[in-house]
Amino acid sequence: MKKVLVLVFLCMSVIMQAQKFDNLALTPPMGWNSWNTFETDINEELVKGVADKFVELGLKDAGYEYIVLDDGWMTKERDENGDLVADPEKFPSGMKALVDYVHSKGLKFGLYNCAGGKTCAGYPGSRGHQYQDARLYASWGVDFLKYDWCDTDELNANESYLTMRDALYTAGRPVLFSICEWGDNDPWKWAKDVGHMWRITGDIINCWDCEVGHGSWSSSGIWKIIEMRKNEKIREVAGPGHWNDYDMMEVGNGMTDAEDRSHFAMWSMLTSPLMMGNDVRTMSKETLKTLTNKEVIAVNKDALGIPAFRFTNENNIEIWAKPLANNGWAIAYVNKNDTPVEIDFDWNKHPIGDDVSQHFMEVSKNTFKIRDLFAHKNLGTTKKNMKATIGVHDVLMVTLTKE
Ligand code: GLA
Repeated sequence: MKKVLVLVFLCMSVIMQAQKFDNLALTPPMGWNSWNTFETDINEELVKGVADKFVELGLKDAGYEYIVLDDGWMTKERDENGDLVADPEKFPSGMKALVDYVHSKGLKFGLYNCAGGKTCAGYPGSRGHQYQDARLYASWGVDFLKYDWCDTDELNANESYLTMRDALYTAGRPVLFSICEWGDNDPWKWAKDVGHMWRITGDIINCWDCEVGHGSWSSSGIWKIIEMRKNEKIREVAGPGHWNDYDMMEVGNGMTDAEDRSHFAMWSMLTSPLMMGNDVRTMSKETLKTLTNKEVIAVNKDALGIPAFRFTNENNIEIWAKPLANNGWAIAYVNKNDTPVEIDFDWNKHPIGDDVSQHFMEVSKNTFKIRDLFAHKNLGTTKKNMKATIGVHDVLMVTLTKE
C-alpha cells in the first residue's frame, strides 16, 4: 500500500511539474519567419544571410531576436529511429550547425511542426512523437517552436497543445511555444497557460483588406485580420508571457509604404508578436525604417502589455487607443479613405477610456505631451486641438505622456 502511495505521489508530482516555461515573451516576441516569402523554399544560406542582416541592419538592436524556420525544413519521412531529419539538400551542414551559427550572432532559433500526422505542407507532424521531437529540438538548441494544426482529425486542441507543452518542458530546454490553430478552438479561452502566443486567425496575406480563397480556407488582408475576433474577449487575456498573435507581418511584401506603416503600427498597438515575414536581405530603405522604428516598437513592448481597443471610427478614420505605463497612452489614427484627410482632434470632445483595464485619460484633469512616433517630433499638448494631415491608408501614431 505504501509503495502504491509513493508511486501515486511521484506520478502526481511529475504531472504537476509540467508547465510552460516561465519568463519568456514578457513582451511580444520579435523576429523573422520564413513562410510569408519563401514557403518551403528554404535553406541554410538563407537563414545565415538573414542572421547576418539582423546584425548589419540594426534589426537585432531594434529588438528582433528569433529566426524561425517554418514548414518544409525536414525530409518527407522520419529516419529508422522515428526521428525527424533536417533535409540534407537544404541544410547540408545539419540543423545543429545552423542553430549554432544563429546563436553565435547573439540571436535565437525557432522551428515549425504540427500537432497532426502531417504538417500543412505534407511533412511529418509530431502526432505520437511529441516527446521524441522535443528531445531532438533540445539537442539542437532550438529556442522557439511554432506548432500548427493541420491533419488533426478529431484531436482536441487544448489537449494536443498541452501534450507538446509538457514534452518541451520535460526535454528541459526553455522553448517559446507558439500555438497556431488559427483561432478555430477559441485559444483565448485556454491557451494562456499552454503557450506564449497563439494565432487568432487563419493565414495573413499582403493586402490592405482583401480575402483570398483557397478552396476550403482563405487568407486575409490586414484589416480582415484585425477585425476577425472583434466580438471575442481576446484583449482580456493578453499580457506579459501570453499574447494574441495576429500572424507574421507582411511589411515589405508589396503593400504601399503607408499601408506598411499602418500595419506595423496596428500590430504594435495590439501587442501582437512582431515577426517579420519579408526578405530582410533585400528590403527597401523605407521598409527597414518602418520595421526598426524604435518609438513604435516601444509601444509594442510597453511594460503593461495591454492591447489597444478601437475608440471610434469617424469618417472612415480608425482611432485606436492603448494604455501605457505611467498613465500614458498611445493613439493610432488610420486613414482608410482613398484621399488624404485633415484631422482637427479636440481631446476634450473625445473622452478616451478603457473599461477593461480601467485606464481613463481625463484630459480635463490632466495635460499630456504629444509625440508623433513616425515623424519623430513633438506636437504640443492636449490643451490644444491636434491638427494633422494623414495620407491615404497611412497612420498618425502618437504617444501621450503626462506633463
Ligand atoms: C499554416 C500556418 C502558416 C504556415 C503554413 C505552413 O497555414 O497557418 O502560418 O505555417 O501552415 O505550411
